[in-house]
Amino acid sequence: MPEPQDVQRGLEDVVALESRICYIDGKGGRLIYDGYDIRDLAAHSTFEEVAYLLWYGQLPTTNQLDELRKRLASLRELPAPVLRILAEMPKEALPMDVLRTAVSALAVFEPDETKPGEASIGGAQRLTAVLPTILGSFHRLRQGLSPLVQRPELSHAAWLLRAIRGTDANQLEARALDVALILHADHELNASTFAARVTASTLSDLYSSVTSAIGTLKGPLHGGANERVMELLEEIGTPDRAEEVVRAKLARHERIMGFGHRVYKVEDPRATILRDWSKKVGEAKGNLRYYDLLRQVEGVVHREKGLYPNVDLYSGSVYTLLGIPKDLFTPVFAVSRVAGWTAHVLEEYQDLRLIRPTARYVGPVDLVYRPIAERG
Ligand code: CMC
Repeated sequence: MPEPQDVQRGLEDVVALESRICYIDGKGGRLIYDGYDIRDLAAHSTFEEVAYLLWYGQLPTTNQLDELRKRLASLRELPAPVLRILAEMPKEALPMDVLRTAVSALAVFEPDETKPGEASIGGAQRLTAVLPTILGSFHRLRQGLSPLVQRPELSHAAWLLRAIRGTDANQLEARALDVALILHADHELNASTFAARVTASTLSDLYSSVTSAIGTLKGPLHGGANERVMELLEEIGTPDRAEEVVRAKLARHERIMGFGHRVYKVEDPRATILRDWSKKVGEAKGNLRYYDLLRQVEGVVHREKGLYPNVDLYSGSVYTLLGIPKDLFTPVFAVSRVAGWTAHVLEEYQDLRLIRPTARYVGPVDLVYRPIAERG
C-alpha cells in the first residue's frame, strides 16, 4: 500500500508559490496590491491605474497612465467572427459560458498572443480591453439589439456600463463601478487565479489560462455569490423579515452567500468599502432598500454565526442600482479580475514550475484483472 501522507484538503494554508502581486492579511483585514493598501487605491486611483500596477509592479506616471488608457481603448473591438459567434449563442445562454467561449474563440484569431509558454503585456491588455465588449455585445444581442460602437474617450468602467446598458453613466455611477473593478482586480491565490497559474505552469498560453480562470470563477463559492445575495434579498422582501428568513436558513445548515472567507478572519476590507458605496449609490438613486436589508442580514449572520461579510455581500446591490442585470454580476467580476489573472500568468512564466500536487490514494491495489467476458 502507498505510504500514508497528510492531506491538506482544499490546499488550505498551503503556500504554493512566491508572488509580488497581492498580499492578504487575513487577521488584520488588509488587502495590498504591490505594496499599496486597497483602501488608498479605492479612494484615489482608477481601474486602469491598478491594472498598470498589477502588470508592471509600480504605479504609472501621468504619461504612462495616459498611454495605457489610449491603448486599452484601442483594443476594445472584437474580430467579426467572434461577434458572429456571440450572435449565434442562445439568448438564454449563461453569460459566464458565453464569456469563456468568446475568450477561447478569440485565441484562434489572435495567434500572436497565444504562443505556448509565452505571454506579453500586450496580450494581457488585449484581454482586459475586450471583455466589456464581449459582455455588452452579448447582452445587447440577446435583447435583439445591435452591439454598440465603442467610445474611446470613456474610461474602462464608463465603457463597461455603456456597453451593458446602452446609456452613458453619470460621474457617480462610473466611479462606483470603477471602485468595484479596483476592489475585484486581484486576490492572491484565489481559485480562479490558481487555475490560471496551473494552466500557465504547463507552458500553455495566456488565453487558455484566462479561459480556465473564467470557468473557475463561475462557481457560486467563488464569483457567483453576489447573484445569490440578491436572490436572498428578493426572498426576504422587507427588513423586518430578515431575522426569520436568515435564521431558518441557518437552522437548515444552508450557507448565507456573501459571508465567510477562507483567508479573512475579520471583515473583508472590500466589503467595508462596498458597504459605503451601496449606501452612497442608494442615496443618489433614492433607493436604500437593498442597503437597509443587507444591514439587517449582516446583523443576524454575525449574531448567529460570528461570520463577517465578504466582497460579495454589497457588490450586487451596487450593480443592481447601476442597472446591471443579475446574471452579468459574475462576468463583471471577470472584467476586473482579468487584470490580476494576466499579471499572475506573466509572473508564472517568469518563475515557472509545473504545478502538480499529489493525492493520497485511498483505493485498493493489487486487484486481479478479469477479462470483460468473465465478468458476467
Ligand atoms: N454561511 C453559513 N455558514 C458558513 C458560511 C456561510 N456563508 N461560511 C462558512 N460557514 C460555516 C461553515 O458551515 C462551517 O461551519 P461548521 O464548522 O459548523 O461546519 C464554518 O463556517 C467554516 O466553513 P468552511 O466551509 O470550512 O470555510 P471555508 O474557508 O472553506 O469557506 C467560503 C470559505 C467562502 C467557501 C465559505 O465561507 C462560503 O461558502 N461562503 C459563502 C459563499 C461566498 O460568499 N463566497 C464568496 C467568497 S468571497 C469572493 C472570493 O474572494 O472569491
